[in-house]
Amino acid sequence: MSIDYSEKIPNNVDLAGDRKLQRALESWQPNFLSWWRTMGPAVPTQDVYLRTAVDVGKEGWAQFGHVAMEEYRWGVFLAERGDDRRIAFGEQKGQPVWQQVPGEYRADLQRLIVIQGDTEPASVEQQRRLGETAPSLYDLRNLFQVNVEEGRHLWAMVYLLHAYFGRNGREEAEALLQRNSGDLDSPRILGAFNEETPDWLSFYMFTYFTDRDGKYQLGTLKESAFDPLSRTCEFMLKEEAHHMFVGTTGIDRVVTRTCELMREHDTADIAPHGGIPLDVIQKYINFHYSVSLDLFGSERSTNAANYFTAGLKGRWQEERRKDDHTLTEDAFTIDTVKDGQLTTDEVSALLALNLDLRNEYVKDCQSGLKRWNRILGKHGYDESLYLPHVGFNRQVGLFSEHRVTPRGELVAEDAWKAKEDGWLPSEADKTHIRSLMRPVYEPGKIAGWIAPPTNGINGKPFEYEYVHLA
Ligand SMILES: [Fe+2]
Ligand SMILES: [Fe+2]
Repeated sequence: MSIDYSEKIPNNVDLAGDRKLQRALESWQPNFLSWWRTMGPAVPTQDVYLRTAVDVGKEGWAQFGHVAMEEYRWGVFLAERGDDRRIAFGEQKGQPVWQQVPGEYRADLQRLIVIQGDTEPASVEQQRRLGETAPSLYDLRNLFQVNVEEGRHLWAMVYLLHAYFGRNGREEAEALLQRNSGDLDSPRILGAFNEETPDWLSFYMFTYFTDRDGKYQLGTLKESAFDPLSRTCEFMLKEEAHHMFVGTTGIDRVVTRTCELMREHDTADIAPHGGIPLDVIQKYINFHYSVSLDLFGSERSTNAANYFTAGLKGRWQEERRKDDHTLTEDAFTIDTVKDGQLTTDEVSALLALNLDLRNEYVKDCQSGLKRWNRILGKHGYDESLYLPHVGFNRQVGLFSEHRVTPRGELVAEDAWKAKEDGWLPSEADKTHIRSLMRPVYEPGKIAGWIAPPTNGINGKPFEYEYVHLA
């Protein structure tokens, strides 16, 4: 079913066929728009060159054009599936998937949807002021594209809450607009989504590391036996890929410019020359990677085991796994700390599902490091960027009670504290980064701390007027 854009809420779920649901969502819509106006992008624009989903199919799902952001067509789009989808894992493996929420899983499913839903508007809030310091119109456009799509992901979760969770669901949908990132009284649910995204280096790191966590979380929900959730997440994953592209290529371009400046001035200390030193890039990696690892939860989790057994949440690419998909007999090796030493332990594979997902994520993160080191190598530098040890700077899970260095040594609190400014962005680093953040709004121009992109958007050149400011 293709998307109906004649409706007030574009959708491919036949909203018109369910008047009650349609009315409920239409009454949530003005609240969403007022949230967007107050918490969304702060820079006033006339229009932005954005992509809008027009079809959920593999071919040509996106259409590009200049649109006024408040008139963006946020809607409800679910991926299409055959009718005979079966549960791929857990104790109900092989049975037909659910089109309705089974009573016994109602609370858990609602919770999973609310937690996912909460992250979507949170990132828009975190990135609200970034437009004021965009390094180019191309980057400004990419920021706004990410923002409108996170807004749409909120719609995706709100649709599920309204359509399947009754009055409770509607209340939760309302609450998703009431919590705000960093708000002392009603913060967003997860820690990383209450951190600031104060500058563009942080933005690229966020879209590389934190949106990538989103990819893996959505990947587990895409496996869900609750079919509407599965289909929603499948389509969200398509949009998510662009967010990570923004992060990957953003960091590519920062590293490239850093190399150019080091070469030009024959020094690693390029801060006085308006660049971002390599060691500062490393510290930002250390920070964003470690807070993103926290989003995977505890290494050992009975909740994760229960969600899997019940069929609510699968593993990353569940169907490609070569095991029995119930995991009742399997073991998994986890890191642990014993007698002041880092060591490993065996636990039931079911208990280690958060870690299983995190391991997939870590592997994926490595690919960025490889790219950035290749850029360094191409410019003749053999220094390398790296991912810190998984125990570094953790607030969640077994490492949260220990101090681990980026290279993976267990150290005492005071030894760690003494080195902290060398591992995580210091006040001086942040001040320097902030000093570089000056808007460049002239088409075809770029800030001095970052290289231009190799390609524009949708075949357009870098010089294209991607955004018309108001
Ligand atoms: Fe998202
Ligand atoms: Fe995203």
